[in-house]
Amino acid sequence: MNTDATPSLISPAVVPLQPSNNPPLKLGIMASGNGTNFEAIAQAIQDGRLNAQIQLLIYNNPGVKAVARAQNWDVPAVLINHRDYPQREDLDSKIAQTLQEYEVEWVVMAGWMRVVTSVLIDAFPNRIINIHPSLLPSFKGVRGVEQALEAGVKITGCTVHLVTLEVDSGTILLQAAVPILPNDTPETLHARIQVQEHRILPQAIALATSLR
Ligand code: GAR
Repeated sequence: MNTDATPSLISPAVVPLQPSNNPPLKLGIMASGNGTNFEAIAQAIQDGRLNAQIQLLIYNNPGVKAVARAQNWDVPAVLINHRDYPQREDLDSKIAQTLQEYEVEWVVMAGWMRVVTSVLIDAFPNRIINIHPSLLPSFKGVRGVEQALEAGVKITGCTVHLVTLEVDSGTILLQAAVPILPNDTPETLHARIQVQEHRILPQAIALATSLR
């Protein structure tokens, strides 16, 4: 990616849509839990804000809400349970193979709570997007919302970035800021961060893939 063209502004108001003569981008979504970001992508596609189609949802925890959401949107949901793959590389190999079977072009980690290896990254070089609930590079890794509260910062937010081997460290695509209020709990703060996640994730996908 040409980093000169990568916007560094927080929450730009306008992100250009992909040219309409492009065929819909074939997305694979990976989620570990609730799946509200999956749903935000599906909604953006339905609304015409993102020229894409979701080929499948990969999930790693049986029974998570993301599966019901996928069914509601008629998206195939494929369980790849990390507990069946003691080696991370074997898990990622299975994930990459499945994504390829479904002819996925770009991958979105929408609440995927596993560290990925070079096996997956090399299968989709510069084509994996992650959403993280903090203003990176602050508060990487797990518990991003709690880390911000514990640090006592007054502003946090969310970041959409390209995935590299180093956790939460790839090129930043979009960020949105969220103020921390005096009585915030992890739950109230996360709820406000998620409103912003649902807004910027589809925008960031459109932005990242507009150069294809
Ligand atoms: C989101 O807040 C996302 O930023 C976070 O998990 C949540 C998933 O929500 N991801 C991470 O913490 C990754 N380190 P969802 O299942 O409702 O989309």
